[in-house]
Amino acid sequence: MTVDDAIEALSPQALKMVKNNFVIGLGSGRAATAIVKLLSSHIKKNKFSVKAIPTSLQIKMEAERGGIPIIEADQINHVDLVFDGADQIDAKGNMIKGGGGALLREKILINIANKVVIIADESKFVKKLDRNVPVEVHPFARNTVGIQIRKHGGKPHIRLLERGYPFVTENGNIILDCDFGQIQNPKELATKIIEIPGVIEVGIFPKPDIIYKAKEDGKYEIIS
Ligand code: A5P
Repeated sequence: MTVDDAIEALSPQALKMVKNNFVIGLGSGRAATAIVKLLSSHIKKNKFSVKAIPTSLQIKMEAERGGIPIIEADQINHVDLVFDGADQIDAKGNMIKGGGGALLREKILINIANKVVIIADESKFVKKLDRNVPVEVHPFARNTVGIQIRKHGGKPHIRLLERGYPFVTENGNIILDCDFGQIQNPKELATKIIEIPGVIEVGIFPKPDIIYKAKEDGKYEIIS
């Protein structure tokens, strides 16, 4: 049994939240991909007419493969439900996201959604957040934001691709992965970072409505 088995086991329950005519936000990454694959058969089986807003080309292509109708974010005025993953989740449900670089679009959809559902494997759960915080930054502000991040006690590292080229987000920005050690107050830190001119978005997210913890023994837990 693996985490993937757990995701398969929890999916029918998670998908019960999908109703006819829903507008569904799709996060990016492995967990979101697993749900998108099952969402496709779920909507066909129930003859649901839903529309999905993908947060990256990666998940858009996955939704297209599954024949899920896609709508652009500027054509909707609400989001019923978001399915997404997370990089780290603390005991209060605060999350670090943006490992795949889709944090800006994920934050936009999560912020407006009526319900946010996160699926993450048990290795992502910690007492306090301590992994690098992805910060999306306009390229012009690469150094100036870095200086401010250091003043707030962080160590910024520009995210690079394997061959050394800078990673560029789908919005044309760069990512500074910032090491703040153990984060005592995620909300306060996020507020300080977002105030720095040149910062586009911060990968610290508030507690979602429902978290599915997928375990290595193939079972899962629901945290809400
Ligand atoms: C995308 O930028 C991220 O926010 C993902 O949601 C996060 O990295 C979790 O991805 P996995 O489900 O692949 O672990």
